[in-house]
Amino acid sequence: MTTPTPRHSRISGTGSALPPHRLSNADLVARLAADGIESSDDWIVERTGIRARHFVDDTQNASDLAVEAAQRALEAAQLTGADIDLIIVATSTPDMVFPSTATIVQRKLGIQHGCPAFDVQAVCSGFVYALTVADAMVRAGSARNALVIGAEVFSRILDFKDRTTCVLFGDGAGAVVLSASDTPGILATDLHADGRHLDILCVPGTVSGGRISGVPLLRMDGQAVFKLAVGVLEKTARASLEKAGRTEADIDWLIPHQANIRIMQGTARKLKLPLEKVIVTVDQHGNTSAASIPLALDAGVRDSRIRRGETLLLEGVGGGFTWGSVLLDF
Ligand SMILES: CC(C)(COP(=O)(O)OP(=O)(O)OC[C@H]1O[C@@H](n2cnc3c(N)ncnc32)[C@H](O)[C@@H]1OP(=O)(O)O)[C@@H](O)C(=O)NCCC(=O)NCCS
Repeated sequence: MTTPTPRHSRISGTGSALPPHRLSNADLVARLAADGIESSDDWIVERTGIRARHFVDDTQNASDLAVEAAQRALEAAQLTGADIDLIIVATSTPDMVFPSTATIVQRKLGIQHGCPAFDVQAVCSGFVYALTVADAMVRAGSARNALVIGAEVFSRILDFKDRTTCVLFGDGAGAVVLSASDTPGILATDLHADGRHLDILCVPGTVSGGRISGVPLLRMDGQAVFKLAVGVLEKTARASLEKAGRTEADIDWLIPHQANIRIMQGTARKLKLPLEKVIVTVDQHGNTSAASIPLALDAGVRDSRIRRGETLLLEGVGGGFTWGSVLLDF
């Protein structure tokens, strides 16, 4: 009997996509002013670190951004749709109630051999959740090349009469191809949820009998989210490091969910990491929810800061409340 080759999963390519329409803080502030809502570039930059975000137009959906990001990740991995045997899309802003955005992506990519495709809903932790599921399936031998995508069109669920939330979010998508490997890529994963906090960040609406029931717009208690976020991000980072037998000193790059520069600075400080080791895109993208981590990862890879063999800590936190991290050798 032959011993089976130990299976690991490793990122073989990354990609991302942003809608062309970019709004600076000044653009958004002017749009809000037209509706009598007061805000300012200074306030947004000082409290959040955000300077600009991208919004889709009426013709674009999450799947369109996902497909663009996936195509770039496939190209980087030197693979085609024919090589993909699993598609997971993390999104809270799907194209439709059903089917999943992942099946829509599968169709748009022309992947016709029947591989499984499904969505993961863990809001801003969605990509970390999706990557964890894909890692488990690759290591179990259920898939050899998985497309793992975070794609969001949060501009569709923003309340532009609520200045405390509408300035924070943007649209975009990021993708990775996760491939079976003889050498370790993903070293440890750590996921959590606590439904007791679901009210502090939610879109409390749905469709019922052909009508919208509840409020289909984002609602958030910013300060409550802030307080919870910093604590759980530190804990999950340490949990992944401990599982892998590594320490903070081993982290080459921290790639946190891009919610707010102050949350990212707080987490880096607790992990004793200089800000130079944190990939920051929140200034240019805003908070793109499940897309933010793969967008930041792809930005760091494409500008050559992140190199093969380096150790990355990805971590996210979001509605639910959900949080988690993935430690990996790139
Ligand atoms: C939302 C957030 C930026 C607000 O910052 P804050 O320092 O807590 O600000 P506050 O909510 O206390 O508001 C302070 C003042 O700014 C005002 N304000 C809020 N939004 C504003 C805006 N866009 N422009 C100008 N003023 C604004 C408030 O009305 C308040 O005014 P008041 O003192 O006259 O009542 C901050 O709480 C935050 O980042 N939370 C985490 C959000 C997050 O990351 N969510 C996603 C997690 S996945």
